Amino acid sequence: MPVEHPLSAQMFGDDFHFGVAISAAQNEGAILEDGRSHSVWDVFSRKKTATRKGAGPYPACDFYHRYKEDLLLVKALGFNSFRFSISWSRILPDGSGKANPAGIAYYNDVINECLRLGLTPFVTIYHWDLPQVLQQEGGWVSPLINRWFRHFARICAKAFGDRVKNWLILNEPAAFTTLGYLVGKHAPGKRSLDAYLKSVQHAVLAQSEGAAMIRAQVPGARIGTTFSCSEVIPFSSREEDLAAASRVDLLMNRIFIEPLLGMGFPEDDRGLMEKMNRRNLTWKHAEKMQFGMDFIGLQNYFPVVIKHNPFIPLVQASPVKASDRKVPHTSLGWEINPGAFKNIIRRFSQYDGIKELMITENGAAFKDSLNRGRVQDDARIAYYRDHLTALLQLKQEGMNITGYFAWTLMDNFEWAEGYEARFGLVHVDHATQVRTIKDSGYWWRAFLEYQGKGQHAVRI
Ligand code: BGC
Repeated sequence: MPVEHPLSAQMFGDDFHFGVAISAAQNEGAILEDGRSHSVWDVFSRKKTATRKGAGPYPACDFYHRYKEDLLLVKALGFNSFRFSISWSRILPDGSGKANPAGIAYYNDVINECLRLGLTPFVTIYHWDLPQVLQQEGGWVSPLINRWFRHFARICAKAFGDRVKNWLILNEPAAFTTLGYLVGKHAPGKRSLDAYLKSVQHAVLAQSEGAAMIRAQVPGARIGTTFSCSEVIPFSSREEDLAAASRVDLLMNRIFIEPLLGMGFPEDDRGLMEKMNRRNLTWKHAEKMQFGMDFIGLQNYFPVVIKHNPFIPLVQASPVKASDRKVPHTSLGWEINPGAFKNIIRRFSQYDGIKELMITENGAAFKDSLNRGRVQDDARIAYYRDHLTALLQLKQEGMNITGYFAWTLMDNFEWAEGYEARFGLVHVDHATQVRTIKDSGYWWRAFLEYQGKGQHAVRI
């Protein structure tokens, strides 16, 4: 397929990590095989109307059985790195206690295959799939969650740390606490302010304690964690919209990174934290919440435009839809705005104490169609081209950005959106598991072709 490339991977420097990111629950399937127990998503997705068309994380992409073929695709597209997560309930079917040898063996195989292909593995310890047995004990609300998480992190470090040097502790804590415990759209489907606030406290501790565990167990580890982030744009310059935008900004962008950087929880937000504090929350353990990460992973998809809305509890704010604003958007209604991508990365880069940034997820869902073996996804190509161009400009300004991971390798289980939202560079027919590289996948291959270090993409 003809692909033009004024932009190339080489412009980012020889040591830049270009990868794709996936997660266990969204790709593996095989939910009860080889000793794995149910995760919260297996159970939550069975509830009526929890997910689109009642879809669940089975069969997903059957990555559990097809990882060799899928890693070969990653290599063939020219990537040099691969980010994936470890399923807690595959490693520890009881949530805690003894590790499942079959679970360890599976991830050993995936890691070894990455290394054999010359792909640097980036391992995310927790990407939202808590074992259901731990949910029954309260999940992220339980005061025991931090002990359980340290144990899980320790097992992963001991099992894989001899070969895995790049670690990510949590995937987007703001997303799994807000959507899972406050809004109820994600597993475990809770809607409670108290549960949400407790889950936030515990997740903040998990990121620093998990990192300390990896530091103690894995010599030479490079440790990071990921944050979702979005530029928050006030709908108008009216004081109430400005204040609403600042509250949303706190909850979306600041509440996890600031304690990690030793700044404590943000307090300068026009009353929001006071309100949260009045709910009997003691934001203690300030020193325990801090950790000197080697890098910070940012995940950005869209900006939000925020308006004051007195009817929404806590934040008293709501987003104005991209379609109502008549701006370009993806099939999920997410605004496409590479300038906003640049702005939010620039903003994070201004925090003291961040040594290095990586974009650990960025990508777009569109209504793809497979016609005679081809998916012409020009909009996705434009999305990647424009976001990579923006990233290159930031790098040229001198920002220490060392990696970019496209979300995602292949169309997978997109949480509450089921299989409807397609984010992949590779199309998957989930009934037959047939993979078809989309035009965007070929675009990436051309972009990555001459990648420095003498690496050339394998011909497909
Ligand atoms: C998550 C992914 C998800 C993607 C697109 C990120 O928030 O880490 O698991 O598929 O966004 O929604």
